[in-house]
Amino acid sequence: MTTLLSLEGVMRVYQNGVKALDGVSVNMERGELVSILGKSGSGKSTLLHILGGLDRPDGGMVSFEGRELNFRNRDEIIMHRRKRVGFIFQQFNLLPSMTAIENVEYPLIFRGVPRSDRHSRARVLLEQVGLSGRIEHYPKELSGGEQQRVAIARALVSDPLIVLADEPTGNLDSATSAGIVSLMREINRERGVSFFIATHDRDLAARADRICTIADGRMVA
Ligand SMILES: Nc1ncnc2c1ncn2[C@@H]1O[C@H](COP(=O)(O)OP(=O)(O)OP(=O)(O)O)[C@@H](O)[C@H]1O
Ligand SMILES: [Mg+2]
Repeated sequence: MTTLLSLEGVMRVYQNGVKALDGVSVNMERGELVSILGKSGSGKSTLLHILGGLDRPDGGMVSFEGRELNFRNRDEIIMHRRKRVGFIFQQFNLLPSMTAIENVEYPLIFRGVPRSDRHSRARVLLEQVGLSGRIEHYPKELSGGEQQRVAIARALVSDPLIVLADEPTGNLDSATSAGIVSLMREINRERGVSFFIATHDRDLAARADRICTIADGRMVA
């Protein structure tokens, strides 16, 4: 197995003095689906933001595929975010004025992918997440579970090495949540994409290859 990412003593202290991450160390292999379990305020979102290059650590080291990320180099962080990382959020975060397929295509615009290629890739992904009948629907015309499926397709469109998911089932009922977890597992198996999933949900966590537990900004298990 090859190491996909490695964190060593990562610190994050917010301006108000809150120590959100207090020396987090963790490794992840390529192709793993890992869940990170912890109470509200334990530092899960902060950790995902740092891994995805949305926030910078105040100490420690983050490396991706054996290379240390240089958080002071903006271009490097932007490239890291665009090419290697997909995000899924609790609130789905779809653009309301765009249809399902336009939402999925959107990240590819910034990569200069021609329109017809964007369209065909987005269509294939929407089929994979079980939404071939909903391609031209707007977010408000979709259920919560369907919106999250669109968000999963969007997270995959740039062929990321890892998908970072922050409470992906937090707004869904338990049956719909189970479907979303199964879909993430299937994508993980079939495409080899790694998943790092922050959650409070023990049922979701139980279906991961491995569970990390965070408390007060420290890994405890
Ligand atoms: N932008 C910010 N400025 C100051 N403090 C923050 C900021 N974001 C988060 N915090 C604090 O940092 C700590 C960790 O927050 P974080 O959002 O990472 O927790 P979490 O585990 O994701 O919680 P939840 O399960 O509720 O989403 C909390 O004490 C929170 O209040
Ligand atoms: Mg959070």
